[in-house]
Parts: sequence; structure tokens; C-alpha cells
Amino acid sequence: MLLGVNIDHVATLRNARGGFEPDPIKAADVCEQNGATSITTHLREDRRHIKDEDVYTLIKTLKTKLNLEMAMADDIQRIALEIKPHSICLVPEKRQEITTEGGLDVAGQLEKVTQFIKPLLDAGIVVSLFIDPEATQVEASAKTGAQFIEMHTGSYSEAFGTDKEEEEFRKLKNAAALAQKLGLKVNAGHGLNYENVHRMHEIEGLYELNIGHSIISRAVFYGLPEAVRKMADLIK
Ligand code: PXP
Repeated sequence: MLLGVNIDHVATLRNARGGFEPDPIKAADVCEQNGATSITTHLREDRRHIKDEDVYTLIKTLKTKLNLEMAMADDIQRIALEIKPHSICLVPEKRQEITTEGGLDVAGQLEKVTQFIKPLLDAGIVVSLFIDPEATQVEASAKTGAQFIEMHTGSYSEAFGTDKEEEEFRKLKNAAALAQKLGLKVNAGHGLNYENVHRMHEIEGLYELNIGHSIISRAVFYGLPEAVRKMADLIK
């Protein structure tokens, strides 16, 4: 199973000061040097974390693959067609949400999704659809021409360790099996962390996990000792 790391959280921190650090491009490089097999980033409509310049730089500097998360927006589609990332992951997007809250409703807008991804597929970009682990969404996804789905693991992650865990986990397992039967490859992500990720191995055929928040959160604490020691040495 492969690991895609989402670097949006690094850009959020950078933007909090409006300066240049921490640099998400450098973060992507560190991720690649330590086992990330792709870098995921979400170019949001409001550009609240990753910005256009970041994406234009990443496509030149990455040694692995760029997976561009995007909503069905024409201006982002234009950027994708220009830079040609390895893959795009189509997500729903609400302006006010803190992070992507639910899966894309492919079943409810099959024609729109199919038309939107067509030029991307024609340009040789791999297309993934971020959906909830539901049979109707998987079946609709298989009709669009997309090669991948990414299963939303948010409900499983929230239910982890509670009496809802098995139910949520079963939904992921069933959706993955159905998707593969219909010829789709399967990724998963959202809310996965160091406690709950191990169960992903019980899902046969999972290709890649996309993980961001828990990795950046852990990095803060594991990097903090060195950062403080270095500053203390400098000002001594
Ligand atoms: N996959 C998708 C489609 C996402 O929108 C996100 C969140 O940006 C992730 C994976 C990663 O989620 P998290 O930051 O909770 O690991």
C-alpha cells in the first residue's frame, strides 16, 4: 500500500503569517525523501492554503507524483489541464467547511461529473473521485470513466474505538470490493492517524492512502525538541 502525503496543512501555517515559512515545497521534498509515494494538495476555490504558485512549482520540483485535489470548478480545471498532474482527485467543496466534509455525490450528478472529468482524462491525467463508501456512489463512479475512487474514511476514523467502528469499517471493505469488481482502483483517506490506520491492511487491494493532518501534527512534536534546542544554542 502506498502513502500519499497531504501538505496543505504546511501551507495553512505559512499563510497564517503571510510569509514564506514553513515552505510547502520543502515539506513535499522531505515527505518524498522519507517514503511518500505521492504528494497531495488541494487547490481550493478560496486558495486558503495552497496557492497557484505552489502548484506551478510543485509540478517542476516533485520527484514522485502530484495528486491535485480539486472541486468541479472551471478555473481549477484549466490549471490542471495546463500543468498536467499525475492525477486529480475530485472532491466536493463548500466555502465555509474546515476540511472536506463529505464525499462527492457522483450518483446525483453523474452527467455533470462525467463531462467535467472528460477533458482531464483525454489529457492523460488519472482521475479519482472522493466518495463516501456507499454502493450507489461506487456504481455511479464506475460509469464516469474515472480510474480510481478514494474512499472517505472520515466516518470510520471518527467511529474508531467505539461500537460503531465495525459498521463503518465494513462499509469501507464492501465499497472497496465492489469498486474493484467494477474495474476501479481504490485509494482511501481522511482522518487516518497512527492508531486507526492499521485496519486499512484488512481491506484487500487498497492502492494508496492519502494522509495529512495526523502526520503534520506528529511532526510538530517530534520536530519541536530540535527546533527549541537549536534556538537556545544560537542565543546562548
Ligand atoms: N483525501 C482527501 C480527498 C482530502 O480532502 C483530505 C483532507 O484534505 C485527505 C485525504 C487527508 O485527510 P487528513 O488531513 O485528515 O489526513
